[in-house]
Amino acid sequence: MNIFDSVTLKSLKLKNRIVMPPMCQFSVEKKDGIVNDWHFQHYVSRAVGGVGMIIIEMADVEPDGRISDLDLGLWSDDHVAPLKKIVEECQKYGAAVGIQIAHAGRKAQDADTPVAPSSIPFSADSKTPHALTTAETEAMVVKFQDAAKRAVQAGVDFVEIHGAHGYLIHEFQSPSMNKRDDKYGEDLSRFGTEIISAIKDVLPAEMPLLFRISAAEYLDGGYGIDYGIELAKKYKEAGVDVFHVSSGGESPKGPDNVFPGYQVSLAESIKNALDIPVITVGILEDPDIAQSVIQENKADFVAVGRGLLNDPYWVLHAAEHLSESIDIPKQYQRAFRLRK
Ligand SMILES: Cc1cc2nc3c(=O)[nH]c(=O)nc-3n(C[C@H](O)[C@H](O)[C@H](O)COP(=O)(O)O)c2cc1C
Repeated sequence: MNIFDSVTLKSLKLKNRIVMPPMCQFSVEKKDGIVNDWHFQHYVSRAVGGVGMIIIEMADVEPDGRISDLDLGLWSDDHVAPLKKIVEECQKYGAAVGIQIAHAGRKAQDADTPVAPSSIPFSADSKTPHALTTAETEAMVVKFQDAAKRAVQAGVDFVEIHGAHGYLIHEFQSPSMNKRDDKYGEDLSRFGTEIISAIKDVLPAEMPLLFRISAAEYLDGGYGIDYGIELAKKYKEAGVDVFHVSSGGESPKGPDNVFPGYQVSLAESIKNALDIPVITVGILEDPDIAQSVIQENKADFVAVGRGLLNDPYWVLHAAEHLSESIDIPKQYQRAFRLRK
């Protein structure tokens, strides 16, 4: 296996195994959550640069569900048409395009009163969140579903649910952040599984559903990979097709040791335990390392985040480095040695 091999997920054909993970651009101009020219050039240039799978940055299900007012939204029909322009343009270059649907929960910095499963702030200098009532939590599931419908209207090839990094879904699934005594506290995976089922109901049957999971926490007393696998099993049963495996975000404390591929073992554990495709992410911009992760079958896809911010043509350069012939846009062919 090779990072440049094509692969099929349900009915979706991907030209390679390289993923652009969601990365907030904090570039919305009018607090309206609508994509603009920056987002257009940012995503389309990575499509021109050969990325197989582009996951557009987190787009939130309500205005107060954003990390900041500069984030994208999918809470209104006004978001659909401008997003569609980006999706269609990226698809012209052979990229599969999805969007990450999210709610920042207690980490929504610009919300007057952020919301969370329980009234526990993220850190000493964060706002104390309002604990969602049961009815408000049920309504939130519908907001995720409505956002997914709009993503489909915008022509995406897949949808990713943000269940990682200490945002709302992760808050519900974590024993350290969810102290509820209603049905969403009895089963900590319930909020996530309800969202997965609700979104599944509005996705075309053959469209893959991705779920980004924090497979382990770094907080003292936080959950480890065994609990991450238990969660993933429930989410898979509810309808997830691919896990995008990350970690942490539940507290200001990060991992003690960060090194190239530091999250690969988490992805591999979920892949092996559940027999499901996984994306691994985290300092994988060295093409030799990215390639070895795929060759050793530790993951099905590699996501390159900051590497693609640094170089929109990372895929083309990785191909040169690995002596692989790939399609180069005809306008740029004279700049590359190897091409099909
Ligand atoms: C500028 C920036 C914005 C990010 N925004 C998001 C986001 O919207 N959603 C998300 O799940 N992760 C987000 N991340 C995390 C990345 O998707 C990725 O997991 C992380 O950068 C590690 O991968 P890398 O070492 O290849 O950069 C962001 C990272 C960066 C650098």
